Amino acid sequence: MKPNLKLSNAFDDLAPSSTLHINETVNAMWAKGQTVYHMGFGESRFAVHPKLQQSLTQHADKKSYLPARGLPELCTAVAEYYTHKLDCTFNASQVIVAPGSKAIIYGLQMVLDADVFLPTPSWVSYYPQAHLLGKSCRYIPSDPALNYRFDMNAFDTLVQASNNACKLLIINSPNNPTGQMYDADFLQELASYCREHGIWVLSDEIYFQVSHGQLPHVSIAQFYPEGTFVLGGLSKHLSIGGWRLGVGLMPDTDLGKAIMQKLVVLASEVWSGVCAPVQYAAIQAYQRDPKIEKYVADCCALHRIRTQFFYAQLQEIGIRCTLPAGGFYVTANFDSFAEGLTKLGIKCSQALAQHLLQNYGIATLPGKDFGIPAENYSLRLSTSYLDLEMPEDADRLMTLYHNETQASVIMNNKNHPNMHAAIAAFSAFTDTLLDTLK
Ligand SMILES: Cc1ncc(COP(=O)(O)O)c(C=O)c1O
Repeated sequence: MKPNLKLSNAFDDLAPSSTLHINETVNAMWAKGQTVYHMGFGESRFAVHPKLQQSLTQHADKKSYLPARGLPELCTAVAEYYTHKLDCTFNASQVIVAPGSKAIIYGLQMVLDADVFLPTPSWVSYYPQAHLLGKSCRYIPSDPALNYRFDMNAFDTLVQASNNACKLLIINSPNNPTGQMYDADFLQELASYCREHGIWVLSDEIYFQVSHGQLPHVSIAQFYPEGTFVLGGLSKHLSIGGWRLGVGLMPDTDLGKAIMQKLVVLASEVWSGVCAPVQYAAIQAYQRDPKIEKYVADCCALHRIRTQFFYAQLQEIGIRCTLPAGGFYVTANFDSFAEGLTKLGIKCSQALAQHLLQNYGIATLPGKDFGIPAENYSLRLSTSYLDLEMPEDADRLMTLYHNETQASVIMNNKNHPNMHAAIAAFSAFTDTLLDTLK
């Protein structure tokens, strides 16, 4: 007799994370020799800073289990770093370290018996995590024509409709997938609203070191310290997502302490701790070492130059998109081509993403994965991989930047052949859509 199988229905309707899935799909297509412009996956491709490599090597002998909340010296370094960077006050007891901020986001959703609210669009994993935990999770609607701006009235309507006294809003600035950032005025208004209604805010600030400079990064923790969880980690600004180290900063209140206690229970029962050599090496990452700060600024400048160029090119060929203020993503909307898309039998954002992959070798993610209604023809396009497919590509680009090469030269066809080819492929696609109308 076969073992009896009963699968948990927590997994109903869930597939592996679409970002990781598209990455595997593209790798398989590349392995077959197919040309694919990989805009499906957001991963900063620059080399690991030599000081961090050295620090990791030096600590390869660290083999013991560490405290579940994280190495005390690391928690202290993280608290000092965030106090300085976010203009807030944090102490080491507020900090938890985990295998990626993803684990802390899940942990917080598990600890709080809360209804969850997500602005549209939102990063791909928040909703599936809420779903795994059986939570009520509601998307706050937004309008592509208004650059998907957060709608406070729509949020209020959802809040009023929720019967759960405990509520959790997850915000993300700079935002994945739109690159938008919240300004101080909006965050102040949001903080007052959340304070008035007793709503917790999980503020995912993992891209705060990758802002493009149009707006200063401001944390809502400045205005609402007692109700905000700040999330971050090493993955984006230091290009070391594979090291799997994320950090969370809880409010410095009795409630914050109670939540931290539960998170530590979860950490101790599920992951025990982040790999010890990585935690020791990460202390270096939080020292505000001038050389590492310069590296972060250089990587950020290149993400900005590449992403802003890509945005401008899409605009030029008539594809509407949100102007990114940070990160390495653009959300593009094809609703103005709806008639042509319908004629090709493309009825939703997944079909659009499929069509572009199969016919133009353009890998993207459908807006639906970010909570944008499927009938909106929206796609998330990541700029982080194009022309940085191999480690030597990233080194070459960094050298160009260090030689003070102008942005227009950095972005020319010779230095960015794949980005130019991807734009040409988009242009061929929109031409076809217009042709169908003739
Ligand atoms: C908005 C956002 N939050 C959190 C994460 C998770 O990052 P990590 O688990 O590597 O800390 C990601 C990764 O792509 C992200 O884009």
